[in-house]
Formats: sequence, C-alpha cells, structure tokens
Amino acid sequence: MCNMKTELSFAPLAGIKTEMLAVLAADTQSAKGADAKPKPALLTTDPAVLAAAEDVLTSGEFKAGANETLLWHGPHGIDAKRLLIVGLGKLDSVTLNSVRNAAGTAVRFAKPRGIREVVFALPESDSKIPPQTASVRAAVEGAFVGDFDPDTYRSDRKDLSILSFTAAAPPSAGPENLGLEAALAEAVIIGESQNFTRLLVNEPGNKLTPKILGQRAAQMAEEVGLRWSNFSSDKLHELKMGAFWSVSQGSAEPPALIVLRYEPEGVTSGPVLGLVGKGITFDSGGISIKPSDNMEKMKYDMAGGAAMIGAMRAIALLKPKVRVFAVVCAAENMPSGTAQKPGDVQTAMPLAPGKPGKTIEIINTDAEGRLVLADGLTYARQLGATHLIDAATLTGACVVALGHVNAGAFSNHEETWASFDEALAVSGEKFWRLPLGDEYAEQIKSEIGDIKNTGGRWGGASTAAEFLKVFVEDTPWIHLDIAGLAWVEDSKPYIAKGPSGIAVRSILEWVRSYAEPSSR
Ligand code: BES
Ligand code: MN
Ligand code: ZN
Repeated sequence: MCNMKTELSFAPLAGIKTEMLAVLAADTQSAKGADAKPKPALLTTDPAVLAAAEDVLTSGEFKAGANETLLWHGPHGIDAKRLLIVGLGKLDSVTLNSVRNAAGTAVRFAKPRGIREVVFALPESDSKIPPQTASVRAAVEGAFVGDFDPDTYRSDRKDLSILSFTAAAPPSAGPENLGLEAALAEAVIIGESQNFTRLLVNEPGNKLTPKILGQRAAQMAEEVGLRWSNFSSDKLHELKMGAFWSVSQGSAEPPALIVLRYEPEGVTSGPVLGLVGKGITFDSGGISIKPSDNMEKMKYDMAGGAAMIGAMRAIALLKPKVRVFAVVCAAENMPSGTAQKPGDVQTAMPLAPGKPGKTIEIINTDAEGRLVLADGLTYARQLGATHLIDAATLTGACVVALGHVNAGAFSNHEETWASFDEALAVSGEKFWRLPLGDEYAEQIKSEIGDIKNTGGRWGGASTAAEFLKVFVEDTPWIHLDIAGLAWVEDSKPYIAKGPSGIAVRSILEWVRSYAEPSSR
C-alpha cells in the first residue's frame, strides 16, 4: 500500500539532488486591514534557496496561505530539479498541525504528477516555530497521511505512492542528533498505523465482514507481537451479551468479539487501559431501515473499532510501559426475519457477575452502536480496565452539532479528560468536549425496562453518551463520537477524500501519558 522510505538529511539544501525539494513559507504580515499585503517569507536560512525563491516571493503571486503551493523547474543555484513552496498561513498562527498538513500537501502535490521523491525542508526553529523533533514527527506523519489513497479496488489504479520522503533538518541540527532519528522512527510507526486503520475503514461491507475484520486484526497482531482472541456467537451467549447479540441476530454474518492485548514485560501494577471500539461493518439501520441515499457510506461504521486496532498496532511497536487491551465489537446491522424489532427488550451483559443485566427497550434498531458498546464496555471492565476509552461513529446528532470539523468527546472524569486534552495538543486532531448530565439521562429512562436505546431528537449525542455511561458507571472514561470525521467528504490538499483514520493518534498519545516516563 504505502512503501514510502523515510530518512533524515542534514545536508545543506542547495546541494541535495532530488526530483523535488519542498520548502515552507509563512505570511509574516502582522498588520491587519485592507492595505496589509501578505509578506511571504521562507522558513529557511539556506542562502541559495532564499536566492532562488526571491523573485517569486516578491512577485506577489504567492501569498503563503495555508497549503498554497507554487512549483517551478530548474531553480537557479540549487541542485533539486524542482522547487515547491508550501504555505503555512500566518506566521503567528503556525502550529505543528500546519507543518503536518504542509508535508501532506507536498506529497499530494507530487503524487499525481508522477514525482516519487520528496525532500521536505523542516522549518527552521525560531520563537514561533515548533522545535525540530516535533516538526520532524509532524512532517513524517503528514507525509504518510498524504500518501494514502483509497483506490484499492480500482483496476485502473496506478501506483503513484511516494517512494522516498526525506525530512531535511538544518545542518546545524545534526547529524548525530538521536532525538530527531527517534522522532522520525516514531512517526513512521504512527503514520503507518493510521493508514492501516484507513485501509480497514475503506473496505466495503461485503469484503470486510465482522469475521474478516477479526482476521485482519489477528494477522496484524501476529506481525507486531500482540496477544489476540477472536470470539463469536457462542462467547456472546456465554457472557450474556444480550445487547451486542441483538444487533447481530438479523444478519447472516456472525458477530466478532475481537480482543487484542498488549502486556509489556515487567509491568504488573499501575493502570490497565481498555480501548473499546464500535465495529459495525455495515449499518443498514436494521428494521428501522435507513433511507437509501448515502446508505453506502455505512460501511465505515466500524471506524471506531478500526481506530482501536490501528492504535494497538502503534502501541505494540512503540512499547510504552503500561498495560493496554482493546475490545472491538463487530457486527452487521441488517433487517431480516430474525432481526430485532422496535419494542423488543434486550438484556445486557451483567455489570457484575451474578447480578442481573440491565434491560434495554429497543425504540429504534438504528441506534445499534450503543448496544454493542454497552456489552463491550462491560466486558472491558470485567477484563480489569481501570480507565476506558471508546470510539464510535455513534450519532448523526454529533455531526449536526459539530459538522465535519470537530469530533465529539465526553468524559465522566476530569483528570482523565485532562490527559486526553493534552494528548490532543500532540496529535493535532480536533475533538470538542460535549456535556453529559442527569437531564440527558432522564431522556433515556424506559417505562418498560431500565433504559431505552434512543432519547428522542434533542441532544442526541449526549443522550447516546449517557446510555454508554450506564455501563461504565464510575470507571474513568472517555467517549469519542467520530461520526462526522471518520470519512473525509471532500478531498483536501493534504488528505484524500475517504477514510481519515481519526482518533488513532489521539488514543495513542493518551495511552502513552499513562506509561512509565522512561518509555514514553
Ligand atoms: N452509524 C450511525 C451514526 C452515523 C451517522 C455515523 C452519520 C456516521 C454518519 C448510528 O448507528 C445511527 O444510525 N444513529 C442514529 C441514532 C438514532 C436512531 C437515535 C442517528 O444518529 O440517526
Ligand atoms: Mn445505526
Ligand atoms: Zn451505526
């Protein structure tokens, strides 16, 4: 899929022989108003590159807007065949994410033109530019993100993936700079893991059934040295997972309960992190069937589960000293003679062994994600999770509230939220915290059973989160509703239209924040 070789260079930019050298520029104009013309400036001190680009920068053609590009051939006085300038936007608002996206933009500029080699000059640090280690990581992650195209099933696909991506650090930064090498190696693992998730999310429902998702997870687990188990119907019955089972019962495809475990040697105390993912390989809505418009999109309703699988891959390779496991609840939500019906009452897995399970009145069979997660979260607690995180393409309401810009996030525990919030600063992913609250819990009370699976139209993302909270109880927990971000609706300069791999990086960073410091 992606065979991109990555390396670091500390050579002076002017002497690098390459198909394309990409250099960053930012708009240094700090004045505002109509007369304030953009003042683009390159983020390098390399005199030859500065000289080569001088005319272009003074011409006014290039404004250094975010992900704006300008390419020319045979740049004067430097050895690269082509010089690409990529804009970062206003210098004052440059973040790591601007660098990540700019690298993706450079790669996606090269790909359709058959340019298969990119040398990306890391921005030279000053007070406004992030340090080199953070930049190299962001750039390499961005390059992997940009290199991915969801064209697996196109017979006319031409493999245009980038063969070589070089992050060029200023000569003064190296070459014996171990920090930069480590950051690069880390970014390769993270970028590849995010793309592994995207590959899974892109798979159509007929090619990726719950069972096949389990096989793909197991194959990955073998490769990276994770323990794994794949269970199906029998195990669901044994564990009394009535909520999870009820979603799968209408489909000819059996459910899959996928468990991946990462148990670093010598770590026998401290937190145990439970990652729980919604893995609906196709969501037709069931008997409460969805309208046909856009129903094909519902193949990506396993994006939360795939994010957990991708995060586990990265965890296995990065080896933080903390115990982590993932539980992915995979099923197909279909209408049929055996499907559950509105009005049915299901009994979820007991919160504690011996206790009766909560009863759930099914109002809408399309609110299936919370049903599989209810049992997945309970199981994760039974497996010993001290902290939980779940990810799910859970509600359309979350998309209405936050659009395709921010994903929703919820938490019942401030300290746990604080760790997640810090993780976001590193991952660059956008999540916006939304409220839980007793008033929302009111909306899902049932007269027939303990709770019902929908809370009406208003506050749909919050009532869904309250439903999950019934099963989480007081275990510190983060819930990620990624319905609006799992699929990129319009391609951007730095990412293709299609599966985004959202949440992999944030979950990973959150996990690392619990690791013994020496292993972070
Ligand atoms: N998988 C959907 C949510 C979804 C919507 C994901 C849009 C991605 C994009 C989920 O299973 C669902 O159908 N939710 C219903 C819940 C409702 C019936 C309470 C929804 O949001 O409409
Ligand atoms: Mn649904
Ligand atoms: Zn769904």
